[in-house]
Formats: sequence, C-alpha cells, structure tokens
Amino acid sequence: MLRRVPIAVLVSGSGSNLQAIIDATQDDAFAATICVVISDRPGVRALERAAAAGIPGVVVAWSDHGQRQPFTKEVCDSAARYGAEVLVLAGFLRILSPEAMARFPAGIVNIHPSLLPAFPGTIHAVRRALDHGVKVTGVTVHFVTEDVDAGPIIAQEPVAVEPEDDEAALHARIQAVEHRLYPQAIDALGRGRLQVQGRTVVWKEEA
Ligand code: GRF
Repeated sequence: MLRRVPIAVLVSGSGSNLQAIIDATQDDAFAATICVVISDRPGVRALERAAAAGIPGVVVAWSDHGQRQPFTKEVCDSAARYGAEVLVLAGFLRILSPEAMARFPAGIVNIHPSLLPAFPGTIHAVRRALDHGVKVTGVTVHFVTEDVDAGPIIAQEPVAVEPEDDEAALHARIQAVEHRLYPQAIDALGRGRLQVQGRTVVWKEEA
C-alpha cells in the first residue's frame, strides 16, 4: 500500500501550482496528500481553490507579525497541527527562518520560474530574465535551505524565449511546465526517491 505523505502547501496568490497539486492528488497513485493550505494573506484565489477542493485553509497574516521568526513559528505550528510532514511552497512570497528547516526535516520544497542560480529572489524573475535577453529560461524545483533559492536542485526544465515574448506570454509557458514538473517532484519526494548528496539531488529507483 502506498503511503501518501501529508503536505502543507504555502501560498500567497493565484495558486495555479496548488491547483496542479490538488489535481495530481486525485490519483490514488500520487504519493502525497494535502492536509492544509496556508496563506500569508487573506482573500487570495489559492484559498478559494483549497475550499473548493475541501482542503482546510489557514491564514497566517504576515502583517500580524512583520518579523520572520514569529511568522515562521506560526506557519510551522499551523502545518504541524494538521499533521504536515513536508512544506510545499507554491508562489509563497515570504522567506522562512531556519526554524522551519529544523522542524520539517523530511523536506521543504519550492518552485521558481527560472533556471537557478540565474534570476533568484521573489521579485520579477521572469521579467528580469527577459530584460537580460536570455534565449532560454525555465523552471527549477529545489529544496529550501537558509539561503534564498539556493538549495539543492530537485528538477529543472528549460523554456525557450521567443522573440515576440512579453512577460505574461513567457510566464504562461513557464507555468505550463511548472504544473507538470512540481507534482512529479512531490511524488518522488513522497516515495522517498530523492537523496541529497551535498548540493546534488539523486533520483533513486523506488525500493
Ligand atoms: C510561479 O510562477 C512560481 O514559480 C513562483 O510564483 C508563481 C506562483 O504562481 N514562485 P501560482 O500562484 O502557483 O499561480
């Protein structure tokens, strides 16, 4: 019998990646289940998606804390209360303090709309890639460590930049890749297939 690892999905906005993960969980062979969705702000579309799927939604408002440490503690407490073992950041715009890594040793993962280490950071990664004139950008799924967007890379996929691209068009093609890549990576994590060796993540065969 497949054990489905309980995950908390952390969001700040539209939640299209959340939706892709929700859709993936409809398959019994997907190795993760979403026990809670946590947003750093109220009223976002991602919380509506969670409610529509019957998944509990929790708001841990950044504005109530304004500081990384107490905010991180409340996010972790909320995730733990719902039994989460893994944190999945999906368009989450806050940086967690190191307490989160200590409390979720099974893993914290993030998805980023560029080929890291190019264009890290939460602000306008797609626009910055376009402004830089790159011909190829893409998607990175990585483990979260103390340094922003610098953890071991789980999966990457390139996306070609077309001459007529604006930010919206390029981001739409990047997101189509994200919606396929993120569920695959989460499934592999749930199956215990991801082995971190220094900076490298090795995808093991399933036991
Ligand atoms: C994604 O492009 C992701 O890579 C970045 O933020 C965006 C979130 O989109 N971290 P959504 O909220 O999942 O639609």
